[in-house]
Parts: sequence; C-alpha cells; structure tokens
Amino acid sequence: MEVFKVISERRSIRKYRKEPIPEEILERILEAGRLAPSAGNRQPWYFVVVKDEGIKGKLVDACRGQKFVGEAGVVIAFLGDPNASRWYRQDPFIAASFMTLEAYEEGLGVCWIGAFDEDKVKQILNVPENLSVVILLTIGFPDEKPPPRPRKPREEIFFLDVYGKRYPFKA
Ligand SMILES: Cc1cc2nc3c(=O)[nH]c(=O)nc-3n(C[C@H](O)[C@H](O)[C@H](O)COP(=O)(O)O)c2cc1C
Repeated sequence: MEVFKVISERRSIRKYRKEPIPEEILERILEAGRLAPSAGNRQPWYFVVVKDEGIKGKLVDACRGQKFVGEAGVVIAFLGDPNASRWYRQDPFIAASFMTLEAYEEGLGVCWIGAFDEDKVKQILNVPENLSVVILLTIGFPDEKPPPRPRKPREEIFFLDVYGKRYPFKA
C-alpha cells in the first residue's frame, strides 16, 4: 500500500476481534520498529511483546483501567535506556510509529497507550530499574471502524521561511 494511504486511513483502534495475530505478521511489525532511525543509531530501546493473557489482564489496571488493553492480540511495551542516549524517549516513539504503520498495512489496528502507571508496568513486566517505559501499543484485528478524528487546519500550523508567514498551499 502507498505510505500516504496508510497514514491517512489509519485510526486508533480500541476494539479487537478475538483472532490471534499470525506470527509472521507480528514479526514483520517488530522488524519495522527495529529498522526505525534513532539518534546516532544508538537504538536505546527494548521491546516487551506481551502475549500472555494473564499479563495483559494485569496491564489493564496499570493502564488506568483501559479495558481494551486486555483484549488486544498483543501489547508491546517500549522501553528506553537513559544511559544509552538522551533521546531514549523519542527514539522508541519513532519505532512505535513505524510499527503502527506496518500494522495498518497488515490489516491490524493499533492504539497508543500513554496513560499508564510506569511503576506498575515495570513491576508486571519485570523491567530493570535503569530502564524507562515510554509508551505501550495495543495491536489486534480491528472490530470497529472509527471516523477520522479532527486535525488542526494546515493554515494554523505550517509557515513558510519564518514563523507566522502562512505557507501558500496550492492544492
Ligand atoms: C503519545 C500518545 C498517547 C496516547 N495514549 C492513549 C491512551 O492512553 N488511551 C487511548 O485510548 N488513546 C491514546 N492515544 C490515542 C490518541 O487518543 C489518538 O491518537 C488521537 O485521539 C487521534 O486519533 P487517531 O489516532 O484515530 O487519529 C494516545 C496517542 C498518543 C500519540
């Protein structure tokens, strides 16, 4: 699929079919994250791929009671290593973006989870003290087709050459 089509059609998915994600597809999604760019190519990241139903269930509470976290095919926790790079938060986000787009390409839906209790997630997933949990993704086959959420108009956010000078969009 064309990248722009994926970007423009993707939506956050919070309702999933009870259908396991084929391993081959999941591994392509993980690979999309592994290939993402990072500052100085330091790759200050680790990824915990949660498939176990019991552990997913525990994550619901750690994610402020967001029930669909327990219903996704997999949940991926993105860990950043502050000792490896000062971009330890941003770089895993780039990997998460790449995985999100690849997941859509594969017919899967994703939701980013930023509302979580880091200490609880670290304890549940046995994450070492020196690493940070920066974001989680829920991934599964979509069981909903949400409409697009609004975005700011482009006139409000794009400038030409200097801040405040409107970008002269042609199309
Ligand atoms: C950093 C980040 C954290 C988010 N955290 C949550 C979350 O905890 N729970 C949730 O339901 N959605 C979460 N979202 C999804 C956003 O609500 C969603 O991306 C936004 O409303 C735009 O909708 P769209 O993704 O369908 O275009 C998060 C998104 C981002 C980028």
